Amino acid sequence: MGHVPVLLQESIDLLLDAGGSLAGDKLIVDATFGGGGHTRKLLELSSERTVVVAIDRDPAAELRSLSLKQGFGPRFRLLAGNFAELDLLLDEAGIGQIDGLLLDIGLSSFQLDEGGRGFSFRSDGPLDMRMDPTTGSPASAIIQEADCETLVRIFRDFGEEPYALTIARKIIATREQRPLLTTRSLAQLIAEMVPEYKRSRRHPATLVFQALRIVVNDELGALERVLRIGLERLNQGGRMVVISYHSLEDRLVKRFFRDSVKGCICPPRVPICGCGRVSLVKVLNRSGLRPQSAEVERNPRSRSACLRAIERL
Ligand SMILES: C[S@@+](CC[C@H](N)C(=O)[O-])C[C@H]1O[C@@H](n2cnc3c(N)ncnc32)[C@H](O)[C@@H]1O
Repeated sequence: MGHVPVLLQESIDLLLDAGGSLAGDKLIVDATFGGGGHTRKLLELSSERTVVVAIDRDPAAELRSLSLKQGFGPRFRLLAGNFAELDLLLDEAGIGQIDGLLLDIGLSSFQLDEGGRGFSFRSDGPLDMRMDPTTGSPASAIIQEADCETLVRIFRDFGEEPYALTIARKIIATREQRPLLTTRSLAQLIAEMVPEYKRSRRHPATLVFQALRIVVNDELGALERVLRIGLERLNQGGRMVVISYHSLEDRLVKRFFRDSVKGCICPPRVPICGCGRVSLVKVLNRSGLRPQSAEVERNPRSRSACLRAIERL
């Protein structure tokens, strides 16, 4: 099955409303192309003069972009790269300011469902987890080489895993006997350790897999950078829409938006502002938007999604 876009109508409405009009020349960046679900809808619902520039660091995105290239011609472009390098990617493409930025972060169903990519404990494959398999090191390198302290820090900081220490010790003891190079070997090892009565509905390896994926792809670092650069690139009235899937990402987005809204930071007793800070954005949905129950029923992968949006002042 392909990827079902999450909060599709909600995110498109927010992006196309930028500047208060659906018409006109707009340049919108979808920095997480995936299967192109959001990009396609943006192209379909915007004016003939709107251009959508998509980005993805996964080389497999190129093939999935072909039908959009055929269908929409010069209104659509795909740039291969990491959105952490948004400045560079846009400069190289000859693009200055933009009117919208969409970040639907995390993984696509294509990546999750393909055992060979190593993202899922549900299918066996090499423990890789790189969104761009042409750069960096696979997750197996961490599992095979990191010391106990590092493993615990990764599982705690990026997975909020309550059994971080027990799991790290078990990994180290096991890898001395046999290498842990596949998704199944790691998932089974974790599953054997978590007692039956402590199990929730989610697989016991969920949090460790999440933590490894975040570290392998420096997901939080990339998100921090794209938020900052994206805001600088937005035209006045331009909008940024971010859909995140776990609390670490959502916290980061919420904090960034809150800091960008903050104007003067002088203490209240100072009569005249000395900091010179002005509010850069308006938050469009203060408590975040979550999928309706009908969407979650149709697409269970949407259940943890949270959408936040701002408009550049
Ligand atoms: C949830 S999917 C997006 C799905 C898409 N909105 C759709 O409707 O098909 C996230 C995509 O973003 C890409 N991605 C994640 N982090 C990235 C980064 N730092 N730079 C570029 N692409 C990234 C992933 O490779 C994946 O294809």
